[in-house]
Amino acid sequence: MAKIQTIQAREVLDSRGNPTIEVEILCDDQTRGAAMVPSGASTGRFEACELRDGDPDRYDGKGVLQAVAHVNELLRHAIVGLDPADQTAIDQVLLQADPSPQKARLGGNALLGVSLAAAQAGSAARRIPLYRHLNVLYNATGDGARTTCEPRLPCPMTNMISGGLHAGGNLDFQDFLILPVGAPRYAVGLEWIVRVYRRLGELLSRSGYEARLVGDEGGYGPRLKSNAEAAEFIVRAIEAAQLRPGEDVALALDVAATHFFDGEFYQLVATGQEKLTSSDLIERLVELVDRFPIVSIEDGLAEDDWTGWRALTARLGKRVRLVGDDLLVTNSSRLQTAIERQVGNAVLIKVNQIGTLSETMATMRLAESHRYLRVVSARSGETEDTLIADLAVGAAAEQIKIGCITRSERLAKYNRLLRIAEQVEH
Ligand code: PGA
Ligand code: ZN
Repeated sequence: MAKIQTIQAREVLDSRGNPTIEVEILCDDQTRGAAMVPSGASTGRFEACELRDGDPDRYDGKGVLQAVAHVNELLRHAIVGLDPADQTAIDQVLLQADPSPQKARLGGNALLGVSLAAAQAGSAARRIPLYRHLNVLYNATGDGARTTCEPRLPCPMTNMISGGLHAGGNLDFQDFLILPVGAPRYAVGLEWIVRVYRRLGELLSRSGYEARLVGDEGGYGPRLKSNAEAAEFIVRAIEAAQLRPGEDVALALDVAATHFFDGEFYQLVATGQEKLTSSDLIERLVELVDRFPIVSIEDGLAEDDWTGWRALTARLGKRVRLVGDDLLVTNSSRLQTAIERQVGNAVLIKVNQIGTLSETMATMRLAESHRYLRVVSARSGETEDTLIADLAVGAAAEQIKIGCITRSERLAKYNRLLRIAEQVEH
C-alpha cells in the first residue's frame, strides 16, 4: 500500500485569469497526483465557500494564498501517511478538519484540491486509469445494495450561444446548448458539434451579428432580439450541418434564473423590460419547448423558488429534463429535499459546489437511485485539469457539460474523452 509522503499547494490561474488552487501529492512509492480547482461566475448561494484573500492589492482581492496555506500547513499534517487510494478516509479527514456547513473555515477550494489530487494519486498508486479508479470508488459509494455500473461515455451538452453573466448580459438566459443525441459514438457526436458550431457562426455573420464576440466558455455572444431567436439560429445551424434537429442533435437551455430573480419577480432586461412571475416564466419555457426540440432545461427558476420549481416540474417534468444547478448545488440533502417535493428530474454535478469527491459521488449515487439524470459539469472559470471527464465516465453519468469546443481548458476535457473512448467504447 502506498502512503502519502508530501503534499504541496500553490496558486495558479484559471481561464478567466483568476487565481485558483493547485494541489500536488507525492507518495512513498514515487507515484504522484495533481489537481486544480475550478471556479464559477454564476454561483449559487448554497455552494461550498470559495475562500479568497480579499486583499485588494493582489488580483483584485481574488488571491487564494490563505487556502494554499491551509493545505500546506493544516491539512498536510492530517493527510500525510494516509493511503491515497482510500478516498473515503481522506475525505473524512478533510471534513473533520472543516466541519462548517459550507466549508468556510478552510475553504471548499482548499478541501477540494486535496480531495481531487488524492484521487489522481490513488489511481497512479493502483496503476489503473483515473476513470477506472473513480469507477471503483463510485461502485463502493452508498449502501452497496445496487448493481454496479460499468464505465460509460457521457453525451456532451455543448454551449453554442452564451448569455447572462457569461457574456455581458446580451441575453437573459445563460446558455443555449446542443446534444448530439443521435450519435452512435462519442467521436461522431463531437464532429457534429463542431460542424453545427461552424454553421452557426456563418449564419450569425450572414445575418449581421458579430460572431467573433464570444462568452466565457467560448460560445457565441451575439446581442440577439430574443431568447427564442437564439434557439431558432441553432435549429437552422443543425439543418445547415445536414443533421436532423431533435433526432440527431437536440437543444438544451441553462436559464440560470437565479441571476435575474429579485426575490419576487424574474426581471428580464436584455431583450426588453419584462417583469415575470414564476408562472409567467414557466409559460415562456413551455412555449419554447413547444416550438423547439429542447430536451433539457437547467435552472428554469431560481435557487430558492421551491414552489415555482414544483409547478415547473408538474408542467414539464414528463417532457424534458429539468436540471437543478443553483437549486441543488451537488448537495445530497438538497437533492433529498427535491426528491421528496417532486422537484426536478436531473442534477448538475460540479465538484467545487460541494468540496469533496466522496460527497460528489454520494449525490450522484442518490440521483441515480431516484432516476435523476446526472450531468457532470465544468465551471465558467476552468483549468486544464481533466478530472471531470474521468468522473463522468467512471460514474457512468448520462451527460457532461464542458462549455464550447473553442477553448483549450474545455478541449482538454473533450480530448480526454476521445482517449478514454478508445478504451471504453467497443
Ligand atoms: P458557472 O456557470 O460556472 O459560472 O456557475 C455554469 C453553469 O451555470 O452551469
Ligand atoms: Zn447552470
